[in-house]
Amino acid sequence: MAEPVLGEAEVRAVAECVRSGWISPLSSSVREFEERFAAYCGVSEAVAVSSGTAGLHLVLVALGLGYGDEVIIPDMTFVATANAVAYTGARVVTADVDPRTWNITPETVARVLTRRTKAVIPVHLFGNPADVEGIKRLVGRKVVVIEDAAESHGAVFRGRKTGALGTAGVFSFYANKLITTGEGGMITCRSRGLGRRLRFLLDQAMDPNRRYYHPEIGFNYRLTGMQAALGIAQMRRIKSLLSAKHRIAKWYQEFLKDKRGLEFQQQQSGAESSWWMVSILLPKGVDRRRIEQKLKRCGIETRPFFHPISSLPMFSKNPERPVARQLFTRGLTLPSGAKLSRKDVQWICHALRKELV
Ligand SMILES: Cc1ncc(COP(=O)(O)O)c(C=O)c1O
Repeated sequence: MAEPVLGEAEVRAVAECVRSGWISPLSSSVREFEERFAAYCGVSEAVAVSSGTAGLHLVLVALGLGYGDEVIIPDMTFVATANAVAYTGARVVTADVDPRTWNITPETVARVLTRRTKAVIPVHLFGNPADVEGIKRLVGRKVVVIEDAAESHGAVFRGRKTGALGTAGVFSFYANKLITTGEGGMITCRSRGLGRRLRFLLDQAMDPNRRYYHPEIGFNYRLTGMQAALGIAQMRRIKSLLSAKHRIAKWYQEFLKDKRGLEFQQQQSGAESSWWMVSILLPKGVDRRRIEQKLKRCGIETRPFFHPISSLPMFSKNPERPVARQLFTRGLTLPSGAKLSRKDVQWICHALRKELV
């Protein structure tokens, strides 16, 4: 689906880190990785964490979210977005998504906004930027907007990278992401104060001036030096990985463009997707599971979309959201690894088209 691109540069970077003995989060490579990532996103602060899920949880805690609060998230997202909210005790409220971009919009958020809403987490699904600006305008200053940018490294909205659009952004470096550290994540923001608070909380909330004095409950959400060393080596590839993803998406569109009823994810005006994962909606009435199995028999791995959050037992107080349900029924994610060639994509599309006649 999306194998990592790892070469000698990554091997050398990790080996050097091990040889130096600085494998812990105190390694200078963590700071360097943070600085490079902040510069890449165009923000002043980047805080490395042990996963995207940890990053989302930490931001919510740092911003004071908890019991009695409501947090709006898309009904179509990976469960981690919802789980991070649930860890804080706040209530998960799902908004439906747009049938073209597959993201929440100011209109769908407005339908579930209440006096108790304290945060909205737009997700840039599969790398496609959501309208963070429009959502910020709708909710006003009292509600924080946190980007779940776990899937959208390098995606741009009206000239700004995702991760630089909300109060904070959260990225994942899981092995299938555009760049990876195996597991890992990064929080981006512009506020020095928030950056400081995040660093404090992620390291067991230890008083920076009094060792082993902890005035609050903290977390161990640290990234290791070895992971950061790998991350720095991956940052050097990010431009070429992004170009590869764009190329692959173009090829899929070229080879499937005349297939009636098949739909691609659309970018709203001003949005430039990173095309992390190329996903399609199969023509209405086609049995997605049958297609998945047929392709699997040809050696082609695909993935269904996420089960809508409202369909999961722990979040089922949310009513069904019809567009998210439709996307789940018809959606299929196609192989999107950066190493795919034009020929590979042509062959995948040929196999898919054969099953759709
Ligand atoms: C939309 C979304 N949010 C959050 C996460 C969580 O990131 P991680 O797996 O690094 O905890 C993912 C991850 O894979 C994701 O796709």
